[in-house]
Amino acid sequence: MTDQVRIFDTTLRDGEQAARINLNKGEKLQIARQLARLGVDVIEAGFPASSQGDFESVQAIAREFKGGPIIAGLARTKKEDIARAGEAVKDADRPRIHTFIATSPIHMEYKLKMTKEEVLSEVKEAVGFARTLVDDVEFSAEDASRSEIPFLIEVFKTAVEAGATTLNIPDTVGYAQPDEFYNFVFEIIKGVNPPANVIWSVHCHNDLGLAVANSLAAVRAGVRQVECTINGLGERAGNASMEEIVMAMNTRTDQYPAKAGLDTTKLYSTSKLVASLTGVVVQPNKAVVGQNAFAHEAGIHQHGMLCNRATYEIMTPETVGAPSSDLVLGKHSGRHAFKDRVESLGYALSKDDMEVAFKEFKDLCDKKKDVSDSDIEAMILDRVLSFIPERRYELKDYAVQVSTGSKPTASVTMTSGNVDYTEAAVGNGPVDAVYNAVKKILGFIPELKGFRIGATSERSDAMAETRIIINYKDIQAQGRGTSTDIVEASLRAYIDAANRLYAAAAAKEVKLNGHDAR
Ligand code: KIV
Ligand code: ZN
Repeated sequence: MTDQVRIFDTTLRDGEQAARINLNKGEKLQIARQLARLGVDVIEAGFPASSQGDFESVQAIAREFKGGPIIAGLARTKKEDIARAGEAVKDADRPRIHTFIATSPIHMEYKLKMTKEEVLSEVKEAVGFARTLVDDVEFSAEDASRSEIPFLIEVFKTAVEAGATTLNIPDTVGYAQPDEFYNFVFEIIKGVNPPANVIWSVHCHNDLGLAVANSLAAVRAGVRQVECTINGLGERAGNASMEEIVMAMNTRTDQYPAKAGLDTTKLYSTSKLVASLTGVVVQPNKAVVGQNAFAHEAGIHQHGMLCNRATYEIMTPETVGAPSSDLVLGKHSGRHAFKDRVESLGYALSKDDMEVAFKEFKDLCDKKKDVSDSDIEAMILDRVLSFIPERRYELKDYAVQVSTGSKPTASVTMTSGNVDYTEAAVGNGPVDAVYNAVKKILGFIPELKGFRIGATSERSDAMAETRIIINYKDIQAQGRGTSTDIVEASLRAYIDAANRLYAAAAAKEVKLNGHDAR
């Protein structure tokens, strides 16, 4: 019988730790719900001791599921971290504390400044304490792949004796090579030889592009939990990509002693949701979930496909839930078709949100004939699920004047607490002009750190989607905006980012020194 490999998703922890990704509680909950629908075994929901926001997100996710996935909170081996993680996950049906300490000579000497004996005693204390809070404790030896095998064996034995139920071998810096990693993992499993209820795990980073290959090598060596992220998000070059690991094991069952028990038909929608919420786009040629993953361009390939799909297709788009074409809806599409499509895109909307979305969809149909999946997705994120506890400003109106030979001028009206604020400004271009007007209304000048504008499809009637990042007083906020008009999309993105900046500043009790009192 084929064993099952547990899929431990760390998109919300290691993925969210990546540069420029900053998800709020509402966004994390949407992703967690989709991960549960996908059927992952463990959701690592965050690092509760790292901030109050992270603590609250982990707690909200822990309270969300009845009988669903295990919810894990990360903690260093410090007692305060473990207590905080325990508190955050305690309401989960199946809570887990995941504690870690580095075991490589370089980390112990320069980062921890600890001896081997001190590390061993810390492992014993930490795992033992975590076990007083929950029954399910995972222990990770950070930078394991650059650690000495005899010491690692001692560390893992100590963790098992103290009550760890999952032992994780991370390739923290993405240094391992597949054959080497296979032997390394095999040696450690043999040396520790824990009781059968203890599960071995790996956690591979992608610095040399080998995270998936190393994770798969470890499965062949005996691990039965793989830590990974959707779209391979994560620190630096990212973590092992879940969709690639799962599809490799499930497609090449002849090569692996185990499979993943996921609903693979939800991989594509999960990838889309994560890309939309994080703003990290998926490269078109990305394996399994890229836009071109199932596109056959060459004539000879198309001919082969027509004769028999298996000539050039090792898995079908249906297996991962990828649409065979970008189907469109239009003004004749009813509520039912719309709801079906929203769900297939990975969104779990409440009844009220679905109503708002349907109304926005109908408004969009008045502006453009065909509404694609990407249009729907952009509209939902922008107009329905803004995930900000309180929106300080709403866009009421704007006008821009552009002509050859003179600088564009703009006037913008924004509403806050039933009061309208209007300002006018000039700029180097129409977007610059509306942004200058918004800054006058805000009363402070955030630094623009990122600006990206794209179209939701390749047609001239596509919606424009703008993503921006602003920074003020060391608080960074992302914003997104969509519209059939590019200036409006950019303006909405700026106001969205400003609202998020206010929310983040309030959470940190920072005054922005603009018109804060509004
Ligand atoms: O990369 C790593 O070592 C980690 C650990 C906390 C598991 O993320
Ligand atoms: Zn990691």
